[in-house]
Amino acid sequence: MKAQFFDLKNKVVLVTGAARGIGKEIALALSAQGAHVVFNYRGDDSKAIALKEELEAKGGKATPLKFDITDYAAMTTAIDEFTKNVAPISGLVNNAGISKDTLLLRLKPDEISSIIDTNLKGAMMLTQALSRNFLKAENVSIVNMSSVVGLMGNVSQAAYAASKAGLIGFSKSVAKELASRNVRSNVICPGFIKTDMTETLSDKVKEEYAKSIPLARMAEPSEVADLTCFLLSNASSYITGEVIKIDGGLYI
Ligand code: NAI
Repeated sequence: MKAQFFDLKNKVVLVTGAARGIGKEIALALSAQGAHVVFNYRGDDSKAIALKEELEAKGGKATPLKFDITDYAAMTTAIDEFTKNVAPISGLVNNAGISKDTLLLRLKPDEISSIIDTNLKGAMMLTQALSRNFLKAENVSIVNMSSVVGLMGNVSQAAYAASKAGLIGFSKSVAKELASRNVRSNVICPGFIKTDMTETLSDKVKEEYAKSIPLARMAEPSEVADLTCFLLSNASSYITGEVIKIDGGLYI
């Protein structure tokens, strides 16, 4: 039985990178709460149409918004059109992200750029583009998807960890800067979640990881989605600038 957050009904929430994985699960969980989910994607339009139908079947409205998070002109046009013609956005989930596992010695400048541009600059630019709109919306909540790797570091993930650590400093700054406007900003740090991003790991590596997790398993994306719904809802109305790990105890 899922917790019901009644104030999420009709709340307009933008979720980036929502075509699959954690983002898609967040979109589904929000739809089940009756939210109007504005889901960002950058690939196949037919898949976006199918996702819109899947989300609306759960309840609430769904609007696809196509842009690449690193294409700031396209992103600004898409959100300006939506907020002008449809409604102010009062929830933002900066979820889109990429990883590229390479030892620091082999990391190429363009790989560093694409990881930072997607995971950190993309979230910063989108939040900035929406900040004027946030002043018109009520009970705004921003959720930034970081990673435990942003707190702990990891072998072969120097650029990814740096981008995710940067997101934490960014989120805390937004929390301070926009608090007077009743805008909250929090970070989720997932551990190992079953998605396409982690699917590429071998069974042996997954078993090794599971040994370092006290709860001895990877998480379902729906578990991250449930936490995201809580942080978007008024049930977390006094929580801002916070960093919440969801990692089965990996960090302990
Ligand atoms: P995923 O690879 O399954 O999904 C990522 C989504 O982001 C995809 O839909 C992709 O198209 C989208 N995306 C990537 N670059 C984009 C761009 N430039 N513009 C628009 N969309 C873009 O990954 P997953 O596992 O669902 O991860 C979601 C978030 O959670 C990421 O930020 C990731 O770093 C973070 N995370 C995931 C963990 C895991 O174990 N799966 C652990 C910790 C954090």
